[in-house]
Amino acid sequence: MITFTINDQRISVEQPMSVLEAARANGVEIPTLCYHPAVKPSGSCRLCTVEITGHSGKPTTLLSCILKVREGLVVKTESELVQKARLAAFKNLLQMAPQSKKIRQIAENCDIFLGPPPDGCIRCRLCIRVCKEIVGAEALKMEKRDGINFVVPIEGRCIGCGTCANICPTDTILLGDRDNMRTISIRDEIIGQHPLEVCEGCGKRFATPKFLAYIERRTEPHPHVKEEHRYCPTCAKLFSDRIRTFSRPAKR
Ligand code: FES
Repeated sequence: MITFTINDQRISVEQPMSVLEAARANGVEIPTLCYHPAVKPSGSCRLCTVEITGHSGKPTTLLSCILKVREGLVVKTESELVQKARLAAFKNLLQMAPQSKKIRQIAENCDIFLGPPPDGCIRCRLCIRVCKEIVGAEALKMEKRDGINFVVPIEGRCIGCGTCANICPTDTILLGDRDNMRTISIRDEIIGQHPLEVCEGCGKRFATPKFLAYIERRTEPHPHVKEEHRYCPTCAKLFSDRIRTFSRPAKR
């Protein structure tokens, strides 16, 4: 019989085993990712770190999946030292698997905050700046959520031009034209959803009514705009080339 202590609880086991196995057999939870009872432990994830008092009398951390129980061993699974080592392990794992929900879930169970999952946004605010300074719609803003800044939509402001999606350097803002509707979104939040107007030249759906109205307002003084603004960019170019050809004076 081997008797040792985990978190001030005396535990006796009949045969040699790892601290992790003994802990679990006695209802003490230790997080793991790389441990599997069917194979030998590898010590890869480092989440199973526990604190023991070393030979020098100083507390130290070891991996409980590898550490064997021995008589008189004193183990702590929730000390400050353990939390520090776990945080480092979680950060290292996230570098390799940033998309993993499981890693975040285990960290949360251990009361370790790893920050929000990466959303692809580098916080350059190019989308916000272009929407405000060039388009003038001001449909996006920065907002702090749980202490972190996010690009978020301002309800009802988007005109559906897609400039934010086209300029985003990391393609985090998405534009999708489907079933005669344009949807612009970031993460799972919709920035704008608009019906698409038909091009009077080729019949293709190409722009939103709010965007066309905006162009009309901005270009009102131009003599050709009233006739040409319901054409998609391809048709508009085609027709304006023809206008130029027809209006060019004949060569002598
Ligand atoms: Fe992964 Fe111990 S369980 S290192």
